[in-house]
Amino acid sequence: MIILGIETSCDETGVALCSDFKILSSFTKTQSIHQQYGGVVPEIASREHEKYLPGITKKVLKDANIELKDIDAIAVTNGPGLMGSLLSGISFAKGISFGLDIPIIPINHLEAHLNSVFIEHEELEPPFINLLVSGGHTQLWLVKNMFDYELLGETLDDACGEAFDKGAKKLNLNYPGGPEIEKLSISGDKSIINFPRPMINDQSFNFSFSGLKTSLINCVNKNKYNYDDIAASYQEALVDTLIAKFNKAMDSYSIKSGIICGGVAANKRLREKLDKLDKNIIYPSMKYCTDNADMIAYLAEHKIKNNKVDLKKDFSAYSRGMVY
Ligand code: KG4
Ligand code: ZN
Repeated sequence: MIILGIETSCDETGVALCSDFKILSSFTKTQSIHQQYGGVVPEIASREHEKYLPGITKKVLKDANIELKDIDAIAVTNGPGLMGSLLSGISFAKGISFGLDIPIIPINHLEAHLNSVFIEHEELEPPFINLLVSGGHTQLWLVKNMFDYELLGETLDDACGEAFDKGAKKLNLNYPGGPEIEKLSISGDKSIINFPRPMINDQSFNFSFSGLKTSLINCVNKNKYNYDDIAASYQEALVDTLIAKFNKAMDSYSIKSGIICGGVAANKRLREKLDKLDKNIIYPSMKYCTDNADMIAYLAEHKIKNNKVDLKKDFSAYSRGMVY
């Protein structure tokens, strides 16, 4: 069975082919056009997806030496994400599904992130605690099995990636801010400013990053510190906060294995500090941390083979929530 996956929930246009749980080929185009605006412009993002999807799909088919008519099913992200971006991907996918008369499977972006680690680590056995940290979400999940997850906690305001991005903007850095703050931190001293570690002593598994972001803004406005020291201290506070809750969740559920996914999982300081825990932390490779269509096609194949899809049900896009 060959599945074509489409991912367009934000500013990455992704297409992938999956067969027998192996990725045959894939391509992700990050829309660099948003850099000049300091963040993703939704209207531009949808148009970029529409512009690039046909070409990327042709490339992915060619790379795998597969013709469009050989595809058995199409999988597409239908939420959560930017409405216009999602609709660009869904319209494209529905066109192919209708034209070829093949099934189309809607996939929840967060569920795909949660399962992305299995693409490279089929051997892993749940349960795990999964820390999903992206530009739009910061969530702690108890993964009991594939298709059986429990949300333990999430951010009450900004996502951690958003805190990186907004902090970077205040420091006059480019978008996306996470990698920029990481780079600037290398020359900085992380112990210069003692930023708060929000909610780490709170009983819940929830997060809050908006106050920390305000602390950074106040600190920059004081005009007293070097930007690399601010970046390093800020990154340290964000990383410590994530780790405190992640570790607490693993201890509370007596689970020794943790998985980290989403764009912020690419952060090297986070990985360095996680490696020091007495836990088995598994990281998807960088290309599977950020948005990609591989995880969409891969999860769809599992859903089809486990009878978890209702092909009679029509679907549209949704911007928020966990529907699966
Ligand atoms: O998962 P993702 O690619 O897209 C969403 O679904 O949001 O995550 C993007 C987020 C951005 O906020 C970006 O700044 C952050 O991930 N990010 C990082 C790093 N690379 C990407 N944050 C910290 N350190 C990084 N190296
Ligand atoms: Zn994502």
